[in-house]
Amino acid sequence: MTMGLLRALPLMLLTKSVLSSTMVLHESISHVPSGFKALGSPSPTQEIELFIAIVQSNITGLAKVVDAVSFPSSPSYGQYLSSAEVAEYVKPPAESLSAVMDWVTPNVASVKPFSPAGDILRVSLTVEQAEGLFNTKFSTYTQSANGQEMIRALNYSLPSTVQQHILHVHPIIAFTPPPQRPSQNTVYKRKATLNRRQLAPCEDIVRPVCIQQFYGIPNTTISGSLTNSIGVQGYNSASLGEYANEDDLATFLNEFRPDIAGNTFSVTLLNGAQNLQDNSGGLEGQIDIQYTVGVAGNVPTTYVLDGTNSDAATSYMDTINWLLSQEDPPTVFTTSYANEETDLTQSAATSVCNGYMQLAAIGISMIFASGDGGASDNQQGCTSFVPMFPSTCPYVTSVGGTFFQPPTAFVSSAGGFSNYFPVPSYQAADTSAYLESIGDEYSGMYNPNGRGFPDVAAEWEVFIVNAGGVTSIGGTSCASPIFASFIALVNDRLIAAGKPVLGFLNPLLYGTGKGGLDDVTVGQSSGCSGSTGGWNSAAGWDPVSGLGTPDFAGMLNALGI
Ligand SMILES: *[C@@H]1O[C@H](CO)[C@@H](O)[C@H](O)[C@H]1NC(C)=O
Ligand SMILES: *[C@@H]1O[C@H](CO)[C@@H](O)[C@H](O)[C@H]1NC(C)=O
Ligand SMILES: *[C@@H]1O[C@H](CO)[C@@H](O)[C@H](O)[C@H]1NC(C)=O
Repeated sequence: MTMGLLRALPLMLLTKSVLSSTMVLHESISHVPSGFKALGSPSPTQEIELFIAIVQSNITGLAKVVDAVSFPSSPSYGQYLSSAEVAEYVKPPAESLSAVMDWVTPNVASVKPFSPAGDILRVSLTVEQAEGLFNTKFSTYTQSANGQEMIRALNYSLPSTVQQHILHVHPIIAFTPPPQRPSQNTVYKRKATLNRRQLAPCEDIVRPVCIQQFYGIPNTTISGSLTNSIGVQGYNSASLGEYANEDDLATFLNEFRPDIAGNTFSVTLLNGAQNLQDNSGGLEGQIDIQYTVGVAGNVPTTYVLDGTNSDAATSYMDTINWLLSQEDPPTVFTTSYANEETDLTQSAATSVCNGYMQLAAIGISMIFASGDGGASDNQQGCTSFVPMFPSTCPYVTSVGGTFFQPPTAFVSSAGGFSNYFPVPSYQAADTSAYLESIGDEYSGMYNPNGRGFPDVAAEWEVFIVNAGGVTSIGGTSCASPIFASFIALVNDRLIAAGKPVLGFLNPLLYGTGKGGLDDVTVGQSSGCSGSTGGWNSAAGWDPVSGLGTPDFAGMLNALGI
């Protein structure tokens, strides 16, 4: 009894001192995004979950470290940090953590670290508690497209004494959908008959042997390394039922890669995910697994399947946190999901991108499909182009789509310039050369000072096995796992030569690594006025095919091995 009183006292004093500090508006949006409708007030006792991003100790220092380990000319090139060393840069300063904890703890049901370094807290609380803490008013909104409900507000405030310690609180004002599959994924009617598949020319049926031929990718590894591995992102939340089928992979390898028949993949399940084997899913998981296991011969491959129903920012962060907590994380990680950049608030996108910076510091090549909506994410009649995230984060490698013969950029290959992230030094000369070449064209429709994407490109249309049958499918969904496989086999040759793996790729790719890419100069992406209104592919970097497609021998040569 007495103990309880003694312990309660400091909390009461504290609450009083916070109450006496003024509330300061921290983030706001002027209106509810289109496509959402307010349904009314949620129950005050309804539990919600919020993520508090606390200021990080030394994120500018970590950015310098990433440059030092990723630029080939740097003396510490390839000398990656451990996750524990990275955590020292991003953990909150002690006084920030205690200021936030002292304010939050008495007013919430639970508070736990979300990121391994503790810079993001995961807080459970009721609507009533949240309205008090953040001086706001929540409503329940429904998204007309899918009926999904979200509890959100248009603004929130923080006590003036706490504000300096907090970057942002997510997702109070973020109407962010889950990660999206690139939209194309067209299933073509072309189906080769069984006995023609092996012999058909690559113009008719693109399969691993064609990818190997065109890019000079070898059959298998030579180093014997088991730590050089590929991670493959999957989602099987309610809206994204994706699975990778083991029997279909076996059929695919028997048919198209008999030399590695029997190879398989391991599965990591996050947030209650299940890798169902009943053919109830979509095609994304099939593409992503068949064009990693089936191209990167003998590189260990892990399907990281997340069952979360969270918004995209939280879902992308889930994987970042998982990678940061692995003793031996995959060296290459491919994701064929993307969102429009404005699906995320700028503060949440920055948090996620700082997560990719941490993965760059520990030496993981994060590879993303650029998206399948051309310059405008398939919007027509728009007045601005639509950049895609995570591709616009300067710490990831974004892969656009091309055809093999003749090498031509794919009309739906997404690309452009970020409105959130400025152009990074490694690509500034290349993006400005492209922008100079187009002059005033599209001026006002994009941010000429933004990070340009994609960085590279690869084949967008391939054959897969789904539910036992062979089918053709297209999209940058195919290009990202193919590029990841290329990098994993380059890493294998580096390991065999006693060198570190490539880690964050872009400073290499925009420098000496250009020798390991074949420039694609033909083709145009779709834009706001349909198939003729997008970017042109051109000599050098362009926002359709990036710097070009893989050239294995050229890359080994550029790396001096
Ligand atoms: C931040 O990190 C950089 C790079 O490691 C280092 O030089 C600098 O001293 C650090 N600053 C602080 C305040 O720790
Ligand atoms: C915050 O949002 C509420 C609506 O929920 C609105 O009435 C109020 O004016 C907003 N305040 C600011 C400062 O934007
Ligand atoms: C790769 O595998 C194919 C099919 O099994 C075989 O014909 C070819 O010789 C192999 N190439 C190399 C370089 O080993």
